[in-house]
Amino acid sequence: MFVQPEEPVDPNLIVLGEAPGKTELEDGVPFVGRAGELLRDILSGVGARPVIVNSANCFNEDKPTTEVITACREAYVKPTLDKYPGLPILSLGNFAASSILGGNRAIGKLAGKVRVIGGRNVYFTFHPAYYLYSHEKYVKDHIEVMAWCSVTPVKPIEYIVGVPPKDILKEPRLFIDAETTGLKYPWYGTKVTLLGVSGLNTPIYIIPTSHQEYKEDVDCLFLNEFEGEIVGHNIAVFDLPFLAYEGLKFPKARFFDTEVVERCRPIIPKMTGLKWLGKKFFGTHAWEAQVHTWIDEGLTTDKMPFKDICTYLAWDIEVSRSVWLSQLEEIGDGVPF
Ligand code: URA
Repeated sequence: MFVQPEEPVDPNLIVLGEAPGKTELEDGVPFVGRAGELLRDILSGVGARPVIVNSANCFNEDKPTTEVITACREAYVKPTLDKYPGLPILSLGNFAASSILGGNRAIGKLAGKVRVIGGRNVYFTFHPAYYLYSHEKYVKDHIEVMAWCSVTPVKPIEYIVGVPPKDILKEPRLFIDAETTGLKYPWYGTKVTLLGVSGLNTPIYIIPTSHQEYKEDVDCLFLNEFEGEIVGHNIAVFDLPFLAYEGLKFPKARFFDTEVVERCRPIIPKMTGLKWLGKKFFGTHAWEAQVHTWIDEGLTTDKMPFKDICTYLAWDIEVSRSVWLSQLEEIGDGVPF
């Protein structure tokens, strides 16, 4: 018994789910049970018109095996993706991630990431069923944020693929990086945290947009609007939609992308993106390294010296390295698309 993919007339997104449940089998339509109701609410709220396909299209009481996922990828997922080249994918949960990346993937490590695979952006988030049994608000928020980003194209005034020009160094510019909260950043609890780092030995900024209370706590720049130039890694697909979601405005900003992810993959060992830029041009490591150190040290929110991060030019090479290595591990070789 199979549930065929759902294909609207003018789709702007592909949603990759797990497997049909009993309700879906009865109706022959994906995502019509409780998880489906939640998902469809979120998707219509962000303006998505999704093609919906499952990573395992046949019903089974057990979780789909790698063999089932591989067979369904060939029979359903690939042909569906081939019909819609370039359309972004919202990948829900472990099995969808395994279908896209191959092997056995854990969404805990991937949630909040965007990858360019086969010429399209793939946004990884949790499966809505996880919210139904965990009742963790951040799970629902996370799905919404990633769905929003996936259907919200950002058009930079200028989009540079490759290393930014040298004159970018003459003035301080805002270097941004955005992170989802959730498993990795539980102290923020709900939606997203945006953090930025500026160049030229000017302070590192933390921009905690989703946690208004930090506005007071953190003696850092808080942005509602930014008119200058922004530099970042792959920011048009992720960081900037994030900013838009959070209501930040960049009315005159010129955006520089340092590399696109796809181009980065073969040269990741040389370090690209924000960390690489920071090190190469400024001899510093991004805030992220320091935050990761604090996490590793088990520091809780109340103990985190947020004030220090403003002036801290992180030198934590080892931590940056391990972050980068774990990113490499996560993708690995043999991506099936
Ligand atoms: N969950 C899924 O992942 N897919 C469906 O079609 C229904 C529920």
